Amino acid sequence: MNAVVYVSKGGNTKKLADAVAKGAEVKAQSAASAVNLTQTDILFIGGSIYCGRMSGVLRKFLQNLDQKQAAKAVVFGTSASGKTIRAEVTSILESKGIPVVAESFHCKGSFLCVNSGRPNADDLAQAEEFAKRVCKGGV
Ligand SMILES: Cc1cc2nc3c(=O)[nH]c(=O)nc-3n(C[C@H](O)[C@H](O)[C@H](O)COP(=O)(O)O)c2cc1C
Repeated sequence: MNAVVYVSKGGNTKKLADAVAKGAEVKAQSAASAVNLTQTDILFIGGSIYCGRMSGVLRKFLQNLDQKQAAKAVVFGTSASGKTIRAEVTSILESKGIPVVAESFHCKGSFLCVNSGRPNADDLAQAEEFAKRVCKGGV
């Protein structure tokens, strides 16, 4: 069983999470609500950058994860600049013995007057394809 867990303050990463979940044939779950995670084969983790870092809610979710809950993790997300949460996620999860797959999926997210309309339909289609490829073992 795979799972998609994300945090999205403004909705951009939620769009990506829903596309990733479609590709993985599961339902995306917000880490801001109760998350139902049993023994997950691939845990997709989605988040954004706020003032240079991932959200505190996502950090807390990752810190509370147990190694038994995920065989491996895959990161995705949005940001205004292109900066990603991958390094922060990897640092927390690998300290718990949960490996993070080298390939991840990120796209620009709208913020104030930049990146208007992102993620767009093309970003969402690519995110869905990425998730399908990961689930088929191609990543
Ligand atoms: C309070 C705040 C701080 C932000 N700080 C950064 C930042 O430091 N670097 C960056 O690239 N984007 C920054 N952004 C832009 C977000 O990363 C971008 O809009 C992202 O797509 C938001 O995702 P969300 O809608 O899922 O919350 C910031 C956005 C907000 C609201």
